[in-house]
Amino acid sequence: MQQIITLGSDQLRQKAEKVEKFDEDLIKTASLMLETVKKDKGVGLAGPQIGFMKRIFVTHIEGDEERIFINPSILETSQETTKVEEGCLSVPGIYAKVIRSKSIKVQAWNEKGRPFTMETGGLLARVIQHEYDHLEGVLFLDRLPEEKRDALTAKFEKKSRNLQRSSPRNLQRKGAKV
Ligand code: NI
Repeated sequence: MQQIITLGSDQLRQKAEKVEKFDEDLIKTASLMLETVKKDKGVGLAGPQIGFMKRIFVTHIEGDEERIFINPSILETSQETTKVEEGCLSVPGIYAKVIRSKSIKVQAWNEKGRPFTMETGGLLARVIQHEYDHLEGVLFLDRLPEEKRDALTAKFEKKSRNLQRSSPRNLQRKGAKV
């Protein structure tokens, strides 16, 4: 289990670095990320969200196998888009409809250093685009019209402040989603 970094942290705004070494540590980090995403009932998690500033993300979608993407490239995106509600473990409690490509073609490496390419649509395509954004320091809120983004950011900040006031201990507890 890892504590998830939330909105306001600089790390979420930095570009992650390429993974150079496919070693035991990388495999451990990938399984830690999968453990964390399952524990927090998320569908995906990217390295920067746990302060690991490398180009890696995992997906955990019901009905799909657990997937690990390292040094991913999105090779193609469909012209056709969909607008679906999204949330983010780094912005707990905030949801918004985000426009993304309906289907994509992605190339990446797995934790063993084996390359693969896949074409996918539906929720997996959406989650991959969301997680890829994290590697670039981009959050789903950035994909919204400015007014909406500002309103939701303010809502998040207000919620965090209220939590801080009412129960300061919650902030110190590992894994507290604030
Ligand atoms: Ni996210």
